[in-house]
Amino acid sequence: MAQAEVGDDVFGEDPTVRRLEELAAQRVGMEGALFVASGTMGNLAAVLTHCQRGDEIILGDRSHTYLHEAGGVSALGGIHPHTVPNQPDGTLDLQTITGAIRAVDDHFPVSRLIILENTHNMSGGIPLSVDYLQQVGRLARQQGLRLHIDGARIFNAAIALGRPAAELTAPADSITFCLSKGLCAPVGSLLCGSSEFIRLARRTRKQLGGGMRQAGILAAAGIVALEDMVDRLAEDHQRARRLAAGLRAISGVQVEQDPPPTNMVYFRLDPRAGKTTQDLIQALVKQKVKLTARNPYRMRMVAHYWIDDAAVDRAVEGIATAMAGG
Ligand SMILES: Cc1ncc(COP(=O)(O)O)c(C=O)c1O
Repeated sequence: MAQAEVGDDVFGEDPTVRRLEELAAQRVGMEGALFVASGTMGNLAAVLTHCQRGDEIILGDRSHTYLHEAGGVSALGGIHPHTVPNQPDGTLDLQTITGAIRAVDDHFPVSRLIILENTHNMSGGIPLSVDYLQQVGRLARQQGLRLHIDGARIFNAAIALGRPAAELTAPADSITFCLSKGLCAPVGSLLCGSSEFIRLARRTRKQLGGGMRQAGILAAAGIVALEDMVDRLAEDHQRARRLAAGLRAISGVQVEQDPPPTNMVYFRLDPRAGKTTQDLIQALVKQKVKLTARNPYRMRMVAHYWIDDAAVDRAVEGIATAMAGG
């Protein structure tokens, strides 16, 4: 990062950003890519580029874009979210999607875009299969809609399924993926799509205040993320399984997706055990294990580059002690 060659990326003159964008586009099999500050900005720029005010997007009721992106699509784009239930495996039922598509009628918003999330975070990091993605891609094309994939963790999906990422993105018009999270870069995501889509998205990014200047210092870490951090994701998946095996053995703890399909482990505490996630958080701070939770009985832990086997074992031990009342 310190040695990155930089230029003004608002003018498209930062060679390191350009190299990252070319590499990203190539890895996901798209014509172009755009470096953005975050996954949230990538998804928002995608929706604002695909849609006009009053258009409707069809997305899962447990999708990150619907739940955890501060309602940006409505607040900034005047775009109407039409949620359909995420099934337990993170997919959206094809018939339900079809039923959500509006007839052409002045009473209705205009259905414009379907969004899928791969891997699906809230369902436990489940990868969506190539076959399913192709089916949704076909449905979108037949109905004249576009398909965006929130692929924050698309490389986790690719590694878990043993398929190239480009196969998972082929049915989509656009995809966002994150360089942070499992790929370990400090900052940044890529929005990818056709050359024309990326040309338009560049303008959207500028409107969002996301045109960065000498961003090559950040893009340099992104290049390391794509070149060196993808294949090792298999280790994180293995560590998530180690974590699940440890948690499974603790009385009062129930692992949701067991074994975990990728890098994350969601687990629940049996209320009869008399402990909440807050109790665990407080108990483990003393052992320098830092946890977060949004729910008193459900918690997520994610394996990544900085978590080794010993760290997994320390977390399991701490939770076992806390659940036993220590
Ligand atoms: C599935 C998914 N999409 C998008 C994001 C947003 O990424 P960022 O935190 O970089 O805005 C996240 C973040 O956790 C995520 O899990």
